[in-house]
Amino acid sequence: MNINKRIGIYPGTFDPITFGHIDIIKRAYKLVDELIIGVAENTNKDITFDVKLRTSMAEKEIRRLGIDADVISFNGLLMKFAKEQNASVIIRGLRAVSDFDYEFQMSWVNYQLFPEIDTIFLPASEDTQFISSSFVKEIVRLGGDVSKFVPKDVQNELINLMKNEKLKKNEG
Ligand code: PNS
Repeated sequence: MNINKRIGIYPGTFDPITFGHIDIIKRAYKLVDELIIGVAENTNKDITFDVKLRTSMAEKEIRRLGIDADVISFNGLLMKFAKEQNASVIIRGLRAVSDFDYEFQMSWVNYQLFPEIDTIFLPASEDTQFISSSFVKEIVRLGGDVSKFVPKDVQNELINLMKNEKLKKNEG
């Protein structure tokens, strides 16, 4: 292990990856020597896409950008995963003030668990301020266009998902 290397983890559920996540990835990539995108397998949220698909969608977009970051799924505690990866920093994006309370609490808990790894926050860029994976899914479910919010391949996965959901409903 190279102890001088600054390894950063950008964790999230990426359900699915949006232009908001991609903006943070591009900027985080410049701040560290090595960037790992950590795709959480299970969180307290309701997950739509399984972890394999969430990981492969993120990986595809990162490759397309020519960003040399690893996309790794993890189960359980983020700080345990970060420690295993020899990370020194966790990177999180902050959209509006509404994100702050939850993010501040989470960074405090993580710090208590493992103070050697700090959290840094990157403010979302102006044009991605309010993009969220849940809004994107809701818009697609209601037949709206999400091309401003997610890459083309992700849009296609969302459309597939909605088709399957409809099929299941009709079968049931
Ligand atoms: O994209 P999200 O849903 O905002 O990401 C949240 C995530 C995955 C970073 C967070 O839920 C997490 O770290 N989950 C792993 C479990 C964990 O470590 N929990 C304790 C921290 S409060």
